[in-house]
Amino acid sequence: MALSTKPLSGMRQRLPGEFRVEKYVTDTLSLCSVQAGFEEYDGPVVEPFALFAAKSGGELAGKQSYCFTDRGGREVILRPEMTPSLARMVAAQGELQLPVRWYSMPLCYRYERPQRGRVREFLQYNLDILGSESLAAELEVILVLQGIMNLFRAPASIYRIGWSSRRFMADALARCGVDQSTRAAVFSAIDKRDKMKGEVWTELLADACASSTIADKVASLVSAGSLSDPWLMDLMQGSSTFDEIVKFNGLLEDVGVTSAVFSPGVVRGLDYYTGIVFELVDTGGENNRSLCGGGRYDDLVGLFGNKKISGVGFGLGVLTLTLFLETYSLIPDSVKKAAPAEVYIAVLSPDEIASAGSLAIFFRRDGIRVMMDVSGKKLGKQYSEAERYGISSVVTVGPDEVETGLYRMKTLSDGVVFTGSPEELSRRLR
Ligand code: HAM
Repeated sequence: MALSTKPLSGMRQRLPGEFRVEKYVTDTLSLCSVQAGFEEYDGPVVEPFALFAAKSGGELAGKQSYCFTDRGGREVILRPEMTPSLARMVAAQGELQLPVRWYSMPLCYRYERPQRGRVREFLQYNLDILGSESLAAELEVILVLQGIMNLFRAPASIYRIGWSSRRFMADALARCGVDQSTRAAVFSAIDKRDKMKGEVWTELLADACASSTIADKVASLVSAGSLSDPWLMDLMQGSSTFDEIVKFNGLLEDVGVTSAVFSPGVVRGLDYYTGIVFELVDTGGENNRSLCGGGRYDDLVGLFGNKKISGVGFGLGVLTLTLFLETYSLIPDSVKKAAPAEVYIAVLSPDEIASAGSLAIFFRRDGIRVMMDVSGKKLGKQYSEAERYGISSVVTVGPDEVETGLYRMKTLSDGVVFTGSPEELSRRLR
């Protein structure tokens, strides 16, 4: 039986055109990170299973992971996310000057049902600050996120950064009557709100709260539209966790981050978040899974020893972001149609291959991107090949050119021909 030409479901493969777009996206993300003083790091793809079982929570490590026993009998996992590895790396550095500002572009693996924006092998851009307890760190990572959206020319009207706080929500849930023993189930139910039909969610919430009166209050809390909602203000009277989010809201307003909106329904599915949490979503409805999620995690690094180092950051799916950019036609044509070279060297016959090669070396040394013909086809076909690639100029190498040292260079868009020495052609191209 012939082997399948398809990769495994949800696994990532990129043809050059797709790769070019992905590279444009990842290069732009890297640029934004570097502009804000973040340094790049990386970690292993294969990790001990225990690292994620303990840190990410049951759903991700248990139900969605690629895990197996390696040949040495170790239980290992293909990393489903980066944050536990990052926490371990930071915990292991004795003399690290804090805070650190690091970013990464890891391939991650999750055994999810493949669907629009969710696959099994994906690039996830991560940006984190570790070692700062100040709300300035949350503000800074959201500013980078907003800077990314600005650099991609996404207007604030097509996305929203919904944010809330786990600390605040724990406090607010207690004030609604949620018992500590049911809090995790209620958080989990809130996290599922946008992925479920209204009635089904109401039932799930009532089950999690074990009381319909409490569930009604939690539903009111989750749908509170602003921090000045009278019901919410009344509920949170005298609360320091509420003061913290009011302060953070003020910071966002003062800096003018209009895309960030207080959203008590955002609690995040991962267990390690402790403070401010946020998610970036498409408000147009075409991409219904979050593009980005993050928040503060106070206790993750401390689990590796006795050093308590708080972290704050986010993960952003490169595929999810690319789909969003494509939806709103925000990938420039110059990226989609970029030519792989500036000059095509057409070779008249096999006798001129070596001369064509020498000319290619000359141009490349001058920093010009050159594609030399390797098809051996007729000249007309070589010109068509250059055109197909979108290459703007063709230099022909035949016996006359080799003898005189003067080459014909044709610009395909207007048919203008220039004849000159390699130095003259190179000057003209540059
Ligand atoms: P997360 O919410 O699990 O957070 O993932 C963040 C983003 O990664 C998602 O919003 C989505 O764009 C992308 N993503 C997640 N799963 C998939 C998938 N199966 N296919 C394609 N893209 C996906 C975290 O992973 C946290 N560790 C982020 C973080 C960093 N928090 C603090 N620092």
